[in-house]
Amino acid sequence: MKVEFNKKADFEIIFLNDEIKKEKKDFFKLMQYEHKGTCLDIANSKLYLALSPKLTYAALTSTIAQAIKQIRHLNIKSVKIDYINIDCHFNSVYSIIYGAISALYEFNKYQKEKKKINIEKIILNTQEDEDKKEGANLALILADSSAYVKDIVNEIPSTYTQESFEEDAKKLAKENNLELKVYKDDYLKKENMNAFLAVNRASAYEARLIHLTYKPKKALKKIVYVGKGLVYDTGGLSLKPADYMLTMKSDKSGAAAVLGIIKAASQLKLPFEIHAIIGAAQNCISEKAYMPDDVIISREGVSIEVRNTDAEGRLVLADCLSYAQDLKPDYLIDLATLTGACVVGLGEYTSAIMGYNEDLQNEFYAHSKRSGEYACILHFNPHLASLIKSKIADISNTSSSRYGGAITAGLFLGEFIKEEYKDKWLHLDIAGPAYVEKDWGENSYGAGAAGLRMCIIDLLNIKRKMEKK
Ligand code: BES
Ligand code: ZN
Ligand code: ZN
Repeated sequence: MKVEFNKKADFEIIFLNDEIKKEKKDFFKLMQYEHKGTCLDIANSKLYLALSPKLTYAALTSTIAQAIKQIRHLNIKSVKIDYINIDCHFNSVYSIIYGAISALYEFNKYQKEKKKINIEKIILNTQEDEDKKEGANLALILADSSAYVKDIVNEIPSTYTQESFEEDAKKLAKENNLELKVYKDDYLKKENMNAFLAVNRASAYEARLIHLTYKPKKALKKIVYVGKGLVYDTGGLSLKPADYMLTMKSDKSGAAAVLGIIKAASQLKLPFEIHAIIGAAQNCISEKAYMPDDVIISREGVSIEVRNTDAEGRLVLADCLSYAQDLKPDYLIDLATLTGACVVGLGEYTSAIMGYNEDLQNEFYAHSKRSGEYACILHFNPHLASLIKSKIADISNTSSSRYGGAITAGLFLGEFIKEEYKDKWLHLDIAGPAYVEKDWGENSYGAGAAGLRMCIIDLLNIKRKMEKK
């Protein structure tokens, strides 16, 4: 995909304004177009698009994507899109171009009949400048990383295993000059990562702890991302009902996002030392499976009573977060499709932000809004914290109440964060937008690469703030 400015194109997307309304009055009347949504003028290769008066970055991205989705199967190579500025910086260019490119994504490798998409160039109808070029570059890199994440998440469970994560990490490391360490069962045993190992015990494949590092010359901060990489989650012996198990190939979304983040960050040459840590496992059933009633001693030495083998993500993350803190991060974020409760509470389109540091949460939330993704802060609460107490171990992997499941899962993870890192840590539950069985906004059916854009826009804003000082 190419992005250029102020040139001719095969097709044009035109934003509605009073002048155009007047000029095209008769045509719009004929089409019974009432200045809402889009109006296609196929004879003139134009699509008219009404923008909402209260335009957010998310709305701009998704509106542009809706327009592109309408014309993406036409025989056109280039599309020109009007430009609107909703901020003083490059965000509108980013929002428009990201929306346009991601509208072209499809996961169709298993379908015989594929509708062709010929669009290879997007022209922005505005004068080029440095900020706009930067915005376009950001959109290109993020759209590329997001397609990369989506391909991993959409891939089927028989094909995409713990080994696949290793292969993908190797390829990513080679292409982007990243350091790579891959650890298997023996190392995990040596490191007492028994919670992580227990989850993977019934799998035909060994677990993988994958650690990628991007190290620029002058790093402003050390930032560690940890991703839940359940290549499949059957629930284990606490087996999921059939209709809940479906889509659990998406339980690797946190890990996939973390790969996408380090890929994008290195391509953007961000001035941060970035570590991407993946806990890749498969929650299966066999005679070797870990069991409800088991007690596991985690890497941190905290004993965990297993009351439900389907609450496995927090076990994998407990040990991976322990490993991550050994790196002495300035900022630590985990991304996980951790709870169904999060989807029930916030709906399918919104991720949850949790942690102990309210300023950090507020700052991340503000940045997430510029990214085009939806997020929402869920506050910890001492009354919920007492629900994960165990009678026989230090902590239970499930809550004693049916309410507040997203937060109790976050609080469980918090028990594995050392005092000195509590204020540096955020937990993102991406269970909703990681995988939606619908076309929505700029996303297509399936994986949504949730978390990727938020985290990169967060980094860019941190960088900007630090450079100002
Ligand atoms: N991977 C699931 C969470 C999930 C559910 C993600 C739906 C995306 C969509 C997680 O491992 C899980 O099963 N969590 C349980 C926890 C419960 C047993 C305490 C849940 O949310 O039901
Ligand atoms: Zn589960
Ligand atoms: Zn899971």
